[in-house]
Parts: sequence; C-alpha cells; structure tokens
Amino acid sequence: MAVVTAPRTTAPDILRRQDPEMAEVILGEARRQADSLQLIAAENFTSPAVLAALGSPLANKYAEGYPGARHHGGCELVDAAERIAIARAKALFGAEHANVQPHSGSSAVLATYAALLRPGDTVLAMGLAYGGHLTHGAPVNFSGRWFDFVGYGVDAESGIIDYAQVHQLARTHRPKAIVCGSISYPRHIDYETFREIADDVGAYLIADAAHPIGLVAGGAAPNPVPYADVVCATTHKVLRGPRGGMILCGEEYAERVDRAVFPFTQGGAQMHTIAAKGVAFGEAAAPAFTAYAHRVVANARALAEALATEGFLITTGGTDTHLITADPSPLGVEGRTARGRLAAAGMVLDTCALPYADGRGIRLGTAAVTTQGMGEAEMRRIAALFAAALREDVAEARGVRGEVRSLTGRFPPYGTLS
Ligand SMILES: Cc1ncc(COP(=O)(O)O)c(C=O)c1O
Repeated sequence: MAVVTAPRTTAPDILRRQDPEMAEVILGEARRQADSLQLIAAENFTSPAVLAALGSPLANKYAEGYPGARHHGGCELVDAAERIAIARAKALFGAEHANVQPHSGSSAVLATYAALLRPGDTVLAMGLAYGGHLTHGAPVNFSGRWFDFVGYGVDAESGIIDYAQVHQLARTHRPKAIVCGSISYPRHIDYETFREIADDVGAYLIADAAHPIGLVAGGAAPNPVPYADVVCATTHKVLRGPRGGMILCGEEYAERVDRAVFPFTQGGAQMHTIAAKGVAFGEAAAPAFTAYAHRVVANARALAEALATEGFLITTGGTDTHLITADPSPLGVEGRTARGRLAAAGMVLDTCALPYADGRGIRLGTAAVTTQGMGEAEMRRIAALFAAALREDVAEARGVRGEVRSLTGRFPPYGTLS
C-alpha cells in the first residue's frame, strides 16, 4: 500500500464542534503536511488504520506490567493487543524477544543501557559531530551525564564509518558497549564488522536502528538482529507506525530488557500506541511494504543523483537508504540558510553535520513522499525545485512555492482534507 486514502481521520467533526480552536490547529497541520513536501528523514505518513488504533479507547486503559502479569485489572483485551504486537515484531525481524512498550526511540535506548550497563561505564558510539544521536553521549542528555562516552567518526574524504578507527578506539578504551546507529548516516552499517570488534574487546553490541528499521522490515537493508546483543529502534520512521520505540533481543537478555523498560524506566504502557504498533507491523509484513521499502531507496538514489547534477555535494557520493545528506555550499548557501529558503518554498527538511567541514549540510529522506506515491520522475522534479529555490533570483524562488503546491496536490497523503 503506497498511497493512503482516508479523509477526516485528523480532525473529526466532534472535535470541531467541541473545541474549534484546537480543531483548527489540527486541521491546519493536516493542510501543512498535505501542501508542502515532507522531506524530514525521520518522518512518514502512518496509514488510516494506524491512526484509528491511536485514536481508539485503548488510550483509556492503564496497564502497568506485561501481558498476563499486570498491576491493574481489566487488562485481558489490551494483553491480547500487546501479544499480537510482540508476535508480529518477532516474526518481522526474526527476533527471539521483542519489547514494544518504549514510549520513544530515546526511551528504548535508555532502557537498553539500563539493561546492560551501570553508571560510569565506558561506551563507544558515533560522535555527535558525525551523526550520533543525543542518546549516544550528548552532554545535555542522560547518556552523556551517566556514562563515559568515546566517539568514533567517519572518514573525512568518503564519509564512510572509519571501521579501523572504531577498532583502535575499542582496543584503547575497552568499552562495556559499542553502539552502532546514527541520525544521518546514509549507508548500510556493517554489523558483522561491528560484531567482530565488540567480540575482540568483550563489549556488548547495541544497534540503534531507529532509522533503517523500516527498510529492514521491507528487506531493503541488512538486519542487525543476528549480530547485535540488543537492537533498539523507533516505530515511526520508514516503518510507518505510530510515534514510539521498541527493543529486540535474544532470550538471553529478554528478562533484563523487560525489567529495564518496566518498572525501571517507564510506568504504564500506552496501549493505544502498542495496538497501533501491532497494526503497523502487520502492514509491514505484507508484500506491498516490501515494494514500498525498495521504492523508498530507489527514490532516495534518484533524488541524490539529481541533486548532484544540480551542484549539491552528496556525502558518501550517494545513499543505500531513505536518507541523503548533502552540502549545498556549491550553490552559494550553507545548510541553515538552505533549510530556511527551502522551507519558505514549501520543502521541509533538516540540517546536519558534514563529515569534513564545520558548516552544516542538509539532511532529507524519501519515506513520506514515497508513501504519497511519488516516484523517480517526481524526485528529479524536487531536485530542480531545490536548485530554483536556492538561487538568488527571488522571483524564481517565489514561483517554486506554487510548483510545490501543484506537485503535492497530485499526491495527497490522506485524500481530500475538508
Ligand atoms: C539513531 C536514533 N536514535 C534514537 C532516536 C530517538 O528517537 P525519539 O525521537 O523517538 O526519542 C532517533 C530519532 O531520530 C535516532 O535517529
């Protein structure tokens, strides 16, 4: 299912009648999502079925604990929902154990550290300046406060992870855990090599697969489950589920992981979100999702190629995934200025670190536009619109907003919004 069609799931009439002020905000956001290009690499459009589960009466239910062992009564049906979600996650990713309760990707990482580490332990992860996440040792995050993080980087020339440096840092610092995963790495991660390095120094291997996990579900990216001790992930990126997290691991770590999620780092599970995760896992197991995941990558490759033709410097020279990072400086702008001008023209994306420079680049992804049904021809059009929006010619840049509207008008994410 590439194109989702179901109007009115975002602003039901009842909300409009009861609380027009909030309804107007929600409807306005739905319009914004529909008439601009959503190129933030971490975003997607969930299906109407996922939205229905999120807006269901399961939102009312308190359910601390796990299926069959809750601290509240009346949990028989939400137990069934969680068991379905767990079974589907295990089957989808070939994991012996799945915990579907983490409220977010960060909560999943927190619980994974809690399961395997003690405060003060040394952890080797991608440095923040190269695309590590906040939970990979940022001083402003619990991870940087409670653990001793050492950062590895990417090769300045190629932008590829410097595996020799990872190995050397691992031998020097003897970390308790090595984390592989990034917010902006466009290439497949070599999990086998990370496993070998972790084994060489006796470290746990944690894969933070927040970004590629949807591609893994669709068979378009390598699966970290056979290699990592614990895999943490989000459910709302390419995977197209609700905003949330999950943890996958072998039986060996199952009990530690479950106790680290509840009661160590979380309270009551969000049963509506867990049901929605289950719906998304069901969708991701269908052949149409496999086709979708491969189209996401084909679109990202086409977009990267077309952006290169327009003069952008594509880091790593391309992409294996949904994600592209690029340096717009050959067009006369740095990343923050580019993001502002593109946003003004209706093309929404992020800035990111560049492997070789202090200036910022741009980070974008094709998950959402592919869900809308766009293909490689539209990717080439988007690259041309990028270049036009960034050119000095203001009149031309202004015209781009209209062109973005006519493009998005042909690919509405949820049918016609009223
Ligand atoms: C690698 C990585 N880890 C963790 C997270 C955190 O996810 P969340 O924003 O749901 O907490 C992200 C989010 O983008 C991520 O990219």
